[in-house]
Amino acid sequence: MENSMRVLVVGSGGREHALCWKIAQSPRVEKIYCAPGNAGIEDVAECVNIGAMEFEKLSVFAREKAIDLTVVGMDDPLVGGIVDVFEEKGLRVFGPRKNAAVLEGSKAFSKDLMKKYGIPTAAYENFDDSQAALDYLETVRFPVVLKADGLALGKGVLICNTLKEARDGVYSIMEDKQFGAAGNRMVVEEFLTGREVSVLTFVDGKTVKCMTSAQDHKRALDGDQGLNTGGMGTFSPSPFYTEEIDAYCKAHIYQPTVDAMAAEGREFKGIIFFGLMLTGEGPKVLEYNARFGDPETQVVLPRMENDIVEVFEACIDGTLDKVELTFADNAAVCVVLASGGYPVSYEKGFPIEGLENFRDKEGRYVFHAGTAKDKEGRIVTNGGRVLGVTATGESLKAARANAYEASGWVRFEKMFSRSDIGKAIDEA
Ligand code: AMP
Ligand code: GLY
Repeated sequence: MENSMRVLVVGSGGREHALCWKIAQSPRVEKIYCAPGNAGIEDVAECVNIGAMEFEKLSVFAREKAIDLTVVGMDDPLVGGIVDVFEEKGLRVFGPRKNAAVLEGSKAFSKDLMKKYGIPTAAYENFDDSQAALDYLETVRFPVVLKADGLALGKGVLICNTLKEARDGVYSIMEDKQFGAAGNRMVVEEFLTGREVSVLTFVDGKTVKCMTSAQDHKRALDGDQGLNTGGMGTFSPSPFYTEEIDAYCKAHIYQPTVDAMAAEGREFKGIIFFGLMLTGEGPKVLEYNARFGDPETQVVLPRMENDIVEVFEACIDGTLDKVELTFADNAAVCVVLASGGYPVSYEKGFPIEGLENFRDKEGRYVFHAGTAKDKEGRIVTNGGRVLGVTATGESLKAARANAYEASGWVRFEKMFSRSDIGKAIDEA
């Protein structure tokens, strides 16, 4: 098998760039394709102009190119059943089937699963009728959290401080369909306070193995102000995620979730990303994702010492119990460089300067999230989140200083970033 595998990665963001970069380090891999990819991914993979939701075309491509393994980065194709399509055609693929990806695809499903199996999470009620939701709001304490049931680009969560805000929220989710069909059902949930932690895990249907912890900064502006975004930066590990908390989560959250899915006839193989809140009453699940986090992946994979392809294979083959995951005893910080105006409206097409500064720099990475090549072959901005600059260091403080130094190596018009990524760690 040495140096002979052909791998296809599905997706086009910073997460997929980090995945392709990590896969490229496997001694078993000969060639990587990425569909549709971006201008940065081209450094490590051949980009193919097929959309992530074009399952038929992707599977035909995989067959034509004799792809040995397909890795799906994004939530939409997983929830839409890409893994089932590939498996039906006898193609090897890493990720949950449609009946398991529902763990992310339906928040009402995941809440009911947690309730049934005693997995700690915020108290809640599900609704498929707006009048019933409005009536229920008369009985709750504020703030309260409203969640559209389905996928909504990470934007389907509303934290409402007053009854009026919550009523407006129900209208916009269920009546005006602000998040489309994702709002046909809705969860109304207790507001939790505490530190948030992201824990990505590999799962083979029975066994679950944790990657190192991370934390995301979702708000657009310093001090956690401004609108929610896909994520403005991350750091790893989280100093708040202690060994004691890890042991608790393994016993009460991670393994019980995997076992619950198996018991429901929805065997989960792939990544479960546990979004946790460390509350005064212990860790509780805020959300499940059925994929790697973005930009958590950009700080977790640079610290991972395993050959990731071997871990993917172990998940597919059900032999994850034989794998020991190891992470470097260091830290990493990722600062997202975004387009001015993100997450509302922003321009595209500005040339990006300074990317060459990252060439051959140990422990400094520029993962492309939204970039493209223009007609002259220049790399230009092509999205809200443009680049994720990651640096490692001996400590979180050192990694943070390195990441901010390296983010000064690149520039484009109207670039903005947060200046406090990982700052909370000063308090730890
Ligand atoms: P989600 O898409 O479920 O991760 O929610 C997005 C963000 O909303 C989370 O990262 C939290 O910051 C916040 N959030 C979600 N659920 C709750 C909750 N029950 N209490 C407080 N904050 C929440
Ligand atoms: N960074 C949060 C997510 O990937 O959902």
